[in-house]
Amino acid sequence: MILVTGGAGFIGANFVLDWLAQSDEPIVNLDKLTYAGNLQNLASLAGDRRHLFVQGDIGDRELTDSLLLQYQPRALINFAAESHVDRSIHGPKDFIQTNIVGTFHLLESVRDYWSHLPGETRKSFRFVHVSTDEVYGSLARDEPAFSEAHRYEPNSPYSASKAASDHLVRAYHHTYGLPLLTTNCSNNYGPYHFPEKLIPLMIVNALAGKPLPVYGDGQQIRDWLYVKDHCAAIRRVLAAGHPGETYNVGGWNEKPNLEIVHTVCTLLDELRPRTDGKAYHEQVAYVADRPGHDRRYAIDARKIESELGWKPAETFATGIRKTVQWYLDNQEWVRDVQSGAYREWVEKNYGERQKVRS
Ligand code: NAD
Ligand code: TYD
Repeated sequence: MILVTGGAGFIGANFVLDWLAQSDEPIVNLDKLTYAGNLQNLASLAGDRRHLFVQGDIGDRELTDSLLLQYQPRALINFAAESHVDRSIHGPKDFIQTNIVGTFHLLESVRDYWSHLPGETRKSFRFVHVSTDEVYGSLARDEPAFSEAHRYEPNSPYSASKAASDHLVRAYHHTYGLPLLTTNCSNNYGPYHFPEKLIPLMIVNALAGKPLPVYGDGQQIRDWLYVKDHCAAIRRVLAAGHPGETYNVGGWNEKPNLEIVHTVCTLLDELRPRTDGKAYHEQVAYVADRPGHDRRYAIDARKIESELGWKPAETFATGIRKTVQWYLDNQEWVRDVQSGAYREWVEKNYGERQKVRS
């Protein structure tokens, strides 16, 4: 079996669902169930004996030691993290605790487990650490996309904490020989994406008749990848990646935020037109920029394509249509994640941002 951490979050849940749709190899899923973890993402697995959920912290050494000993996984995939840049600006502490200290404890636990494995099992064991392109910092418009050799220049507490975890992973391979692999992926989108991030927030706010808050001039560029393509890349890295290597994962799909927002609006105009006949883009509201906002991320994903044969299956046009349709079809999921805690966050993050212009 494999052990997955953070498997009740956005990418982790998609990974668990896709894994069990393609394989009968069981999964132990360790997740703390923070505000971002949601067992409803895994509701379709109710009663499925191939999925064993354990609520707990990756930094709880006693727990991870006992899970490793009890289930003897052949691999571990670490998705668990605090993942939202804006939250890291309001309160970096949890990011340091989980992304750095938590990863450290997990590495120690795995080092102990792995060093006691018998020969062949030890050789084939793998630990995939799921990270982000944000560790590389920000690019000017004309600079080449991030390759794996790009220097680390993280700019937010989130990206700095992920960068630190990547460095620990690198050191544990280099020093102890642990068979670790790191993936650095661009912005994901798709089903089960918590509506604090750009794309789901825009869909949810548009349907609720609320403003669509665009930070600054909306010309910041991100590379966008459909989440199921990311999950396929991780499966490929697990199966064929070389320990100690890092792989950049991206969608060859750089777009300014404003274009993303307009695409979402146009799809909603088609799939769920406003009852007053107006266009959704009329709800766009320019608000104060994010402090230290990175201008551009772009991923050079040639290494994973040439060495492991992975490339994205979805284009942005197909992926975003599926995503918008998923949110339209899953309004109950949306309602359920908009708890009191969610509303508090929206007030905290957007209450202070004065509307600049619309
Ligand atoms: P998410 O915030 O949706 O989910 C994170 C999950 O981790 C949640 O289920 C949460 O409960 C769990 N978790 C948090 N702290 C924990 C702890 N201490 N112990 C155990 N579980 C804990 O995040 P996501 O978007 O699914 O991202 C997953 C991973 O992929 C993260 O490491 C993130 O840095 C990375 N990543 C995300 C993106 C993206 O666009 N979302 C892109 C590249 C890389
Ligand atoms: P986000 O989804 O938070 O991902 P990240 O910061 O990790 O790239 O944001 C994506 C982009 O969208 C980023 O440039 C910030 C911008 N953004 C807005 O303009 N308005 C919003 O309300 C949010 C959440 C993000």
